[in-house]
Amino acid sequence: MLLECLNREGLGGWTDSTFNQGVTSRKKTQTSDIRQEIESKQLDLKGKKVLCLAGGVGRCANALRQFGCEVTNSDINKQYVKMGKRLYPEVKHIQYDILGDPLSGYDYVVNENCWGNPMSWKMNLGICRKWKDYATLLPTTITLKIWKFNSKQLSDWYKQEEEVGTQHIEDYLSHGAILGHIPKFWLQDLEEKDYVIDLTNPFIKIPECTTHDYQVFGRWMYGLPDWLMGLFVNKGYKEKFSNYNIFSKKPARKNTRWKLPNKEN
Ligand SMILES: C[S@@+](CC[C@H](N)C(=O)[O-])C[C@H]1O[C@@H](n2cnc3c(N)ncnc32)[C@H](O)[C@@H]1O
Repeated sequence: MLLECLNREGLGGWTDSTFNQGVTSRKKTQTSDIRQEIESKQLDLKGKKVLCLAGGVGRCANALRQFGCEVTNSDINKQYVKMGKRLYPEVKHIQYDILGDPLSGYDYVVNENCWGNPMSWKMNLGICRKWKDYATLLPTTITLKIWKFNSKQLSDWYKQEEEVGTQHIEDYLSHGAILGHIPKFWLQDLEEKDYVIDLTNPFIKIPECTTHDYQVFGRWMYGLPDWLMGLFVNKGYKEKFSNYNIFSKKPARKNTRWKLPNKEN
């Protein structure tokens, strides 16, 4: 089930911390992932100053207190800062825009956007690069999935009598131009593999899928465990990130087959 708020106010969208769909699952995942990272790296956070970015009302920040650190939660939204002060009074809450300049005085910075928006490479890398001389940024990796599958339902849905239309859509499904939200019961012959992106040395290189009709790069949806969400990358996907700039425009997607008719014709 997917719910959509029609008046587009208050509810929904990635910008919502507390009233969104799948919130409990997302918050649980990010809290347990960040705990796991701290424990597996045996980081000693005792007495350290930790800042959570885009932290909503501060649930994750509050959970991090168990490591004996002094935690500050930050969010751009004044309402969440206010709610956070009431809900998690042991955490310090500040209003802060992740697009702004980094702040001094923190030992660790937790970029919660890596869970809310894991496929927003530009944003997450920009944050990583911006903070690297100020604090140790966590998480250092983002784990996504690569799925290969066939899907009669999906093929029936977009394939059409006119070859030009089918080719146009297949072209978009080739290189990461389409983000899909797909229920598991639409998938046949499903294979799943983890794909880890190291934010300190990032690159993505996914080869073309030759064994199945479809290949998708993404993650299971929070709160909807039988739905996957990701980019269709049937012919593979590459990102080098060498000149990535947080303020630069999104790179154009490849669309080789469909050409607008020549004006003279
Ligand atoms: C999907 S919510 C996740 C919040 C939190 N990580 C949680 O799990 O509750 C995304 C959060 O990012 C905040 N946000 C959006 N744009 C931001 C920005 N430019 N700077 C800081 N926070 C921002 C929103 O206000 C919202 O609380």
